[in-house]
Amino acid sequence: MVTLHCLADVCLIPIGTSTASVSNEVAVITKLARSSHLNCTLHSAGTTIEGPWNEVMELIGQFHEKLHDSGVVRIQSDIRVGTRTDKHQSPQDKIDIVEKKIASGSV
Ligand SMILES: *[C@@H]1O[C@H](CO)[C@@H](O)[C@H](O)[C@H]1NC(C)=O
Repeated sequence: MVTLHCLADVCLIPIGTSTASVSNEVAVITKLARSSHLNCTLHSAGTTIEGPWNEVMELIGQFHEKLHDSGVVRIQSDIRVGTRTDKHQSPQDKIDIVEKKIASGSV
């Protein structure tokens, strides 16, 4: 079986911390993501991770472990994941296609 490639949009939600801010947790996760060989893009409400399914899920598990290690006792993750077999598409490709349609006036 060919390794399934995926794009996962992940948002970890720490529960029960003493502040409404999550930027510290996001910084910890982003550092970990950048140390992996997977393509990761930080956006305003999560991170998009691109790569083989198992490795992406493994990395998300490491996010949880890392945050638990730093003292967060509960984390609820929102994960949206997409796969396709007809072509390879990066997160930027998906955005570019929409921008091109808008710029061309076709919509
Ligand atoms: C990272 O992005 C590049 C360029 O789009 C792509 O060729 C490569 O396969 C991606 N790596 C992973 C692990 O998906």
